[in-house]
Amino acid sequence: MLKIGIVLGSTREGRVSPQVGAWVKEVADLRGDAEYEIIDIAEFKLPLLGEPGGDASGAAGWSAKISGCDGFVFIVQEYNHSITGALKNALDYLRDEWNNKAAGIVSYGSVGGARAAEHLRGILGELLVADVRVHPALSLFTDFENGTFKPKDVQKDSVNQMLDQLIPWSTALKTIR
Ligand SMILES: Cc1cc2nc3c(=O)[nH]c(=O)nc-3n(C[C@H](O)[C@H](O)[C@H](O)COP(=O)(O)O)c2cc1C
Repeated sequence: MLKIGIVLGSTREGRVSPQVGAWVKEVADLRGDAEYEIIDIAEFKLPLLGEPGGDASGAAGWSAKISGCDGFVFIVQEYNHSITGALKNALDYLRDEWNNKAAGIVSYGSVGGARAAEHLRGILGELLVADVRVHPALSLFTDFENGTFKPKDVQKDSVNQMLDQLIPWSTALKTIR
């Protein structure tokens, strides 16, 4: 069965990404078209890439986890109009493990995390990750209430439409790896 990693892009204490990732997984699991798994960058405790003296013992696990996936849903939060440093670092850590796979983006921020999502598309292009068009964009003003994630019903449809594109692309790219 196709394996899709739902990658949590933020690592800070008090982050909301686990709530958003769990919701995406709940919607995705109902489809029965892939095995969906939450991948939490924080668990791998990656130091900054190449930093002297850093404990890079989590890097092998990170590599194995990404290698084992056929596609990804990136849970992206907007930090200063871009993605988090943690997500950029985790992307930079690997190369072949990302290549020739597909991805969808679910983002959030004051304008739906749109600026971060567009930055991520550019990075994914360099990593040979094909990002699908449909992009669920969650608003900090209407899909959250006092730090608690309460998505509008319509967002569920958007996640399904994104997955409708992600699954066939992930399946197709498997044939050229
Ligand atoms: C360092 C930092 C920078 C941020 N910059 C932006 C921004 O440029 N645009 C925006 O819409 N939200 C911005 N935010 C708000 C975050 O999108 C919001 O706090 C979100 O919940 C962060 O995701 P997280 O809770 O998973 O860490 C920023 C938050 C932080 C911590």
